[in-house]
Amino acid sequence: MKKRLERKVGAAAEQTAVALDRRIPLMKAGKELLRKAFPDHWSFLLGELALYSFVVLLITGVFLTFFFHPGAAKTVYHGSYLPLRGVRMSEAYKSTVDISFDIRGGLLIRQVHHWAALLFLASISIHLLRIFFTGAFRRPREINWMIGVTLFLLALLEGFAGYSLPDDLLSGTGLRTAQGFILSVPLVGTYLSFFVFGGMFPGTEIIPRLYVTHILLIPGLLAALISAHLGLVVYLKHTQWAGRGATGRNVLGKPLFPQYTGKSVGLFFAVFGVLALMGGIAQINPIFEYGPYRADQVSTDAQPDWYMGFLEGALRLMPGAETRVWGHTVSWNPLLPAVVLPMLFFLALYAYPVFERWLTGDLGEHHLADRPRNQPARTALGAAAITWYLVLLADGGQDVLAYVFHLSVNDLNWFMRVCFFVLPAVAFWITRRACLALQAHERELLEEGTETGFISQSVEGGYGEAHQPLPSEKAYVVMARRLPQPLKLSPDAPASRRRRLRATLSAWYFRDLVEMPSTPVQRRKVAALTADPTQPEHQD
Ligand code: HEM
Repeated sequence: MKKRLERKVGAAAEQTAVALDRRIPLMKAGKELLRKAFPDHWSFLLGELALYSFVVLLITGVFLTFFFHPGAAKTVYHGSYLPLRGVRMSEAYKSTVDISFDIRGGLLIRQVHHWAALLFLASISIHLLRIFFTGAFRRPREINWMIGVTLFLLALLEGFAGYSLPDDLLSGTGLRTAQGFILSVPLVGTYLSFFVFGGMFPGTEIIPRLYVTHILLIPGLLAALISAHLGLVVYLKHTQWAGRGATGRNVLGKPLFPQYTGKSVGLFFAVFGVLALMGGIAQINPIFEYGPYRADQVSTDAQPDWYMGFLEGALRLMPGAETRVWGHTVSWNPLLPAVVLPMLFFLALYAYPVFERWLTGDLGEHHLADRPRNQPARTALGAAAITWYLVLLADGGQDVLAYVFHLSVNDLNWFMRVCFFVLPAVAFWITRRACLALQAHERELLEEGTETGFISQSVEGGYGEAHQPLPSEKAYVVMARRLPQPLKLSPDAPASRRRRLRATLSAWYFRDLVEMPSTPVQRRKVAALTADPTQPEHQD
């Protein structure tokens, strides 16, 4: 009886699969996709962390849309949160307080949503750094890098739009600051502000507009771009770390199904679990404590969420300055730190792969991840950018820092202005030296082997320590690297100024590389395993 049932179920499943495959070629596509190999490394989970926090954002966001009203019309609060009873507020603010106190599970979901947003941005940022430091943006992944930068930009805007929706005193202050940025755009600033806010600030239009942007426009773009991003990861294959058997021509790893899928699904539940726990026990954005937004009020120590902190810091760092030109006022303070600086930052991010290719003249494909130490200038540039970001972030809270450490806000601001210029340069120099020192140390290990800890005394009375050769696995990792060579000018042809600049920059960028000791045979092997896969393979 049991056997007959099993046979029937088996046959039905087969028939369904064949029928489906005739209409949509699932089996063929599925077979290839499911057996696709994914290399294994903890840092490759960062992208997935971003993906799963986005899923949690979607799930919790849908719940919130059932109860949130994006209205600017004024109403009087009569809900169950006593301190606000009788207070006039917008519908948007009232519905957020209602979600927090009168909708079952509402506060939990609001908090999970906010924590997920912070995790989303944190994992995107760290994922971006991983891609940058390992050179995973190089050919053929430049377009995926640019999609990634767009995702990062959209995620920042999405966070800001969501944060502004409750119309509380803190987020309203942020919105007012944003309006200042818009106004500072020369010539068109005032028109732009009227266009965005539908009239004077704050007006009644901005919250409904931000709502549509937050729940439809940006999530739609994010979902479409994430799909394209992941499609390209599968199509171009994932980069991998050098290790036994891994070359620029193959991918070593676990198949997508069942191993990789199992791990990934596990990560999803872990992310959901941790976020649910944080939403349950860690208070975040208690808008009911801030009160509703009023344009004539501002709370002291108002801080944006951390990912917007760099903008706040840049604003506070920049001295106030204005210029009158043809009857127009150019207000340098919001314009430079809040409009020009972020534009330059994103431009630099978009352009970096092209810039590095221009410096190396290297048009080959790269599928082996760089060890950061093997690219001292790139790693140092990344460290300088992180330091610069941290200085801005710290200055975004200079009032709080001054209060806690009993300092003068003005002195602290001046100190931060010096740090803004000096610290990134110091970070660059230290990181570059550290990378070179690490390379030199590995060269020493290759030449002399590792220390065994055994001290022996010779017949002459001298002491010596026994060394053993570096294990082959480690030696392989150290030696498997394709180092960019500085561009050289041809001595025969006269070089244009542009070519001379390019050669000088290239020489500066790639100078001081530590050569690893190797025999001609080893050199040939390393060249073969790191070779550009688009070029024909040479057999020894
Ligand atoms: C919504 C945001 C994002 C999501 C959900 C996402 C997701 C992923 C996932 C799941 C992977 C494969 C696993 C991994 O390498 O971590 C990946 C790879 C990649 N991502 Fe992202 N990512 C996002 C943002 C970014 C950003 C901001 C950048 C860079 C600017 C970027 C550039 C790349 C590149 C170049 C790869 C290929 C890596 C390789 O082959 O080694 N992504 N992304």
